[in-house]
Amino acid sequence: MSIELPLEGKVAFVTGAARGQGRQHALTLARAGADIVAIDLCAQLPTVPYAMSTPDDLDETVGLIEGTGRKILARVGDVRDFAALKVLADDAVEQFGHIDIVCANAGVYSFGPISSLDIDAERWAEIVGTNLTGVFNTIKAAVPPMIERGAGGSVILTSSTAGIKGLRSMADYTASKHGVVGLMKTFANELAPHNIRVNTVHPTGVRTDMVDNPQLSDWYAANPDMANNVSGNLLPVDLVEAQDISEAVLFLASDSSRYITGVQLPIDAGFTEKA
Ligand SMILES: NC(=O)c1ccc[n+]([C@@H]2O[C@H](COP(=O)([O-])OP(=O)(O)OC[C@H]3O[C@@H](n4cnc5c(N)ncnc54)[C@H](O)[C@@H]3O)[C@@H](O)[C@H]2O)c1
Repeated sequence: MSIELPLEGKVAFVTGAARGQGRQHALTLARAGADIVAIDLCAQLPTVPYAMSTPDDLDETVGLIEGTGRKILARVGDVRDFAALKVLADDAVEQFGHIDIVCANAGVYSFGPISSLDIDAERWAEIVGTNLTGVFNTIKAAVPPMIERGAGGSVILTSSTAGIKGLRSMADYTASKHGVVGLMKTFANELAPHNIRVNTVHPTGVRTDMVDNPQLSDWYAANPDMANNVSGNLLPVDLVEAQDISEAVLFLASDSSRYITGVQLPIDAGFTEKA
């Protein structure tokens, strides 16, 4: 007797899937039965101080998903480029027939000047362009076929503890992650009549290359006063693992959360509740 997987027959559209949380979300959803549509920039943005992903990373994600026995349509592309996302969504519908789950996860982070007043225009444009406009573009590309099909679905947007609290020295990142909450609240309202749910996840520091890199360690060493931006978890854990976030994504993607929409779900070890 075979046991039906929770996402059997579903298709998940995941941005930023070459590595880190995006890869782990894709793998977790695939293990739960979903086929995967993946996109990642796989290149360096000039104002991002840590090494970003490469085409080899995306190839590795493809191999991992195929290893689960699920299918994957993967492409190099920029979430700031709506046309690229639209072509991918169209191709996904042609190949798989539908999209059921959207994980708008791609994001970037930057650090340098202590005062947010010193963030320059190029850095602002890259962070907000990826983390906020990129999420809007992802919704705008992937949701219309879900509405047209009329079978409902789940949209999961990756925010941050910086989408709940103000974190010093990163007004760009903080504004973008609060902006993601605004997108979630508006689309939860607009898409509910189509039985499409929209929620945000708010991770604390996660052990991925975004924060586990020598550049950020050096920056904290030079600016110890900044460390409490990330070291304020209530529970005794420094960084959580990508899989901890993927478990929440899987819950929000599945029918276990079928009447949950418009919710900001912290996976933050108590960071945002710290007195
Ligand atoms: N790591 C953390 O501590 C942490 C905490 C809270 C929230 N987040 C958020 O989680 C998400 C995933 O980050 P991660 O920790 O896996 O970091 P990561 O750097 O390992 O992964 C991010 C992925 O997004 C891709 N990406 C970046 N810009 C892109 C663009 N313009 N178009 C397409 N792809 C792009 C990158 O190439 C990379 O593969 C991000 O939105 C991030 O802001 C991370």
